[in-house]
Amino acid sequence: MELFLDSADPQQVKTAWDWGVIQGVTTNPSLLASVGKPYIEVVNELIQIVDGSISLEVIATDFETMLQQARTLAALSRKIVVKIPCTTDGLKVVKILSAQKIKTNVTLVFSLSQAILAAKAGATYASVFVGRLEDMAEHSGDELVSQVRTAYDDSLIPTKLVAASIRNENHFEQSILTGADIVTAPFPIVEKLVRHQLTDAGLQRFLDDWARSGLEFPG
Ligand code: E4P
Repeated sequence: MELFLDSADPQQVKTAWDWGVIQGVTTNPSLLASVGKPYIEVVNELIQIVDGSISLEVIATDFETMLQQARTLAALSRKIVVKIPCTTDGLKVVKILSAQKIKTNVTLVFSLSQAILAAKAGATYASVFVGRLEDMAEHSGDELVSQVRTAYDDSLIPTKLVAASIRNENHFEQSILTGADIVTAPFPIVEKLVRHQLTDAGLQRFLDDWARSGLEFPG
C-alpha cells in the first residue's frame, strides 16, 4: 500500500516528503484555495518536491470544460493525475482520458456502485471518502472500502482504491486493513501517526540513563 499526503500546502508536502513516508499527493479545490498563493505557483512547487503522483482536480461540472481543464492539467507534468468528480459528465471525461493514457482519480465516491462505475469508465484511482461518509450516521467508511476491495478483486479490476477523507488514526489503520491500495491523509494526521506515547517515554528513559552513565559518545 502507499501513503499520499492530502494537502496542497508546499511546506507540508516538503516536510512529509523529506520524512520519507509519502509516495504522492492529493489536492482538491478547497485545499488549493486555502494555500493563499497563485494556483500555478503552488502546482509548480508541488511538482518540484514530489517524485510521485499529484492529483489535481478540475473546477467545472460540464463535460466540455472538464475535458479541456483535464488536458491543461495533464500537460503540466507526467506526475499529474486528473481528479474528476463522480458524475455522468465526469465519467464521460474519464473514459476519454483513459483511452489517451491520461491518469485519472475519480473523486467524491460514496458507494460501491460509484466505485464500480468509475472503474468501468477507466479510472486509474477511485477515492472513497471515508470520513465524510462516517459524518452521516449509520454509514461505515471502512465497510465501503472493504466492499470495494472485494468487488475490485473479484472482477480483477485494476483501478486503485484510495481511502480519502481520513480524519483520525482509526480511519487510517482500518483503511489499510480493509484493503485500500492508497490512504491519503492530511498533514496533522500523518504527523500524529509517527508518534506514540511509549516511543516518547522510551526515548526519554534512554537519554536519562545515558546522561547518568557519564559515558561519552565517540567522535
Ligand atoms: C480526497 O482526495 C480529498 O482531497 C480529501 O480526502 C477530502 O477530505 P475531507 O473530507 O477531510 O475534506
